[in-house]
Amino acid sequence: MCGIVGYIGVKEATPVLLKGLKKLEYRGYDSAGIAVLGAGGLEVCKSKGALNKLEEKVSALSAQASQTGGASKKPFGGTLGIGHTRWATHGEPSDINSHPHTDISGKIAVVHNGIIENHRKLKEWLAGRGVVFRSETDTEVIAHLINYYYAGELLVAVQAALKRLEGSYALGIICENDRDHIIAVRKESPLVIGRGGGENLIASDVPALLEYTRDVYYLDDREIAVLSKDKVEFYNEEGERVQKTLSHVDWDAGAAEKGGYEHFMLKEINEQPKALTDTLRPRIIPAGGTGAMASSRSVNLAEIGFDKSWAEARRVVLCACGTAWHAAMVGKYAFEYFARIPSDAEIASEYRYRNPIFNPSDIFIIISQSGETADTLAALRLAKKNGGRVIAITNVLGSTLAREADLVMYTWAGPEIAVASTKAFTTQLMCVYLIALQFGLLRGNLDQAGLDHYIEALEKIPTQAEAVLKSKETIQRFASLCFNKSKVFFIGRLFDYAVSLESALKLKEISYTHSEAFAAGELKHGPIALADESTLVTALCTQEALFDKMDSNIKEVKARGASTVVITYDDVHHFDESADTVFRIPRTPDCFTPMLSVIPCQLYAYYCSVLRGNDPDKPRNLAKSVTVE
Ligand code: G6P
Repeated sequence: MCGIVGYIGVKEATPVLLKGLKKLEYRGYDSAGIAVLGAGGLEVCKSKGALNKLEEKVSALSAQASQTGGASKKPFGGTLGIGHTRWATHGEPSDINSHPHTDISGKIAVVHNGIIENHRKLKEWLAGRGVVFRSETDTEVIAHLINYYYAGELLVAVQAALKRLEGSYALGIICENDRDHIIAVRKESPLVIGRGGGENLIASDVPALLEYTRDVYYLDDREIAVLSKDKVEFYNEEGERVQKTLSHVDWDAGAAEKGGYEHFMLKEINEQPKALTDTLRPRIIPAGGTGAMASSRSVNLAEIGFDKSWAEARRVVLCACGTAWHAAMVGKYAFEYFARIPSDAEIASEYRYRNPIFNPSDIFIIISQSGETADTLAALRLAKKNGGRVIAITNVLGSTLAREADLVMYTWAGPEIAVASTKAFTTQLMCVYLIALQFGLLRGNLDQAGLDHYIEALEKIPTQAEAVLKSKETIQRFASLCFNKSKVFFIGRLFDYAVSLESALKLKEISYTHSEAFAAGELKHGPIALADESTLVTALCTQEALFDKMDSNIKEVKARGASTVVITYDDVHHFDESADTVFRIPRTPDCFTPMLSVIPCQLYAYYCSVLRGNDPDKPRNLAKSVTVE
């Protein structure tokens, strides 16, 4: 979704803003712009398309000016500015609709992430007061409203304007008459404040700040930050000063760089062994002591308050969007499998509009890489309102989800930049397995020996993931033969069905291939009508008890001309006859295979995307973090 940056300090703001916007490109955008307070006043440059178009436009303007004017008039030379990457919601991608938007006086500039729901009403109201609108955006009303209330104090005008706004927003605001401040506001859209020495910044996400500082404040909902170059002050919606705690971001700047890989996605796929280790290791307490003092190994879930009181739960509800919803599906099967507890995997965007039935003893597990997905947050708030125990699984420290949930379990995957989620997914799986195992022990469905067996298997997963990654050239070769297939289906049952859904999503997201996942048993109820010579069917076959069933399904599609790929264990030859191609994964208990079987599918999607000439990190029409409905 849209990306916001802002800078106030001693450096020239323009390069800082442009670099910051680059770091936010992964969020998805279709146009970009900056506004800088220079010697000549408020200067705005906006451009539809990629950031380099904006850079070219800014350089051309600067060059033009240096031929005609002096250095003192250098455009975009000021030390205070805001920037934005826009993902069109209201009004097509165009120069005019790009942010920053200015008021009629041309002195106030605003960048916005979110949606102003009552913008039509406000537009009419402002038009009645002589305002002529230039863009089709909902954002423009904000600039005009601030101007309407402006009587010499920017903060006062912003506070008055906010009272009129309905919807969600993260805002960066500057004003030509106030050269010492940037005002930042947050309501339901993320915004982080970076605290530097003699300079301060705002950004939608931490990577845009890392070059300048690792000390950040996470703005809370309805808070306002007033940044000057030497300090940051915070206010609540009543206009009272609030004190906030500075957080330190541990990751080094390199964690958000490509590190020699051609794309972030490939880097992140390859980081999975480490991410899985980092997510698992701190939660396993090794066996210790001897004799009467001996203790068995165990799973430490103190972070989510896992204790005997969980035994009262009668149901687990897992709720998420996109890839995280697929992790929720695996979670549902895992809870049923290990803990024999009724579990549901809910799509957050559906759940929030249903009239779901709540039970005070329900445990809600809300999963989100970013912790900022609007629908997921709405589901969390619904669950909280109805008294459920809400646990968040997220990758982003300080995210809204992390702050609003009762307790948090972090996936220690490190920053995930590529839009298509990979290492976040496998680490989300690791988290749900750990909770399901511990729950199984608590409910008496698993004994200590069983737990030991499964923990041992989990500990092998990172090395096994490493082994799967070694086969990437085989997958690349395979992709080079069939990247242009027009129909690709993934089929599987239970755990394999969840991976099929995730694999089909990955392929369609970044290669734009029409791919679908089907529960293998459902093929004969409709989808098989689509099977012909142009179809590629990938069958996920990692559950021994279902091998025969899957083999029949594969033969059915093959008989109709489809090419077939099977993903199964490296010692299984059950499918040698029915499969045209076999990708192999190491042995692990059947229930854990999603963490391994998804890897060849991620790689396949990645290579198809590259071979089709796409940028896998920035797929068209998609955003990394969907912070609006
Ligand atoms: C977007 C992304 C997906 C992601 C989904 C949920 O659609 O493109 O990759 O799975 O949002 O995101 P979350 O941050 O909540 O996991």
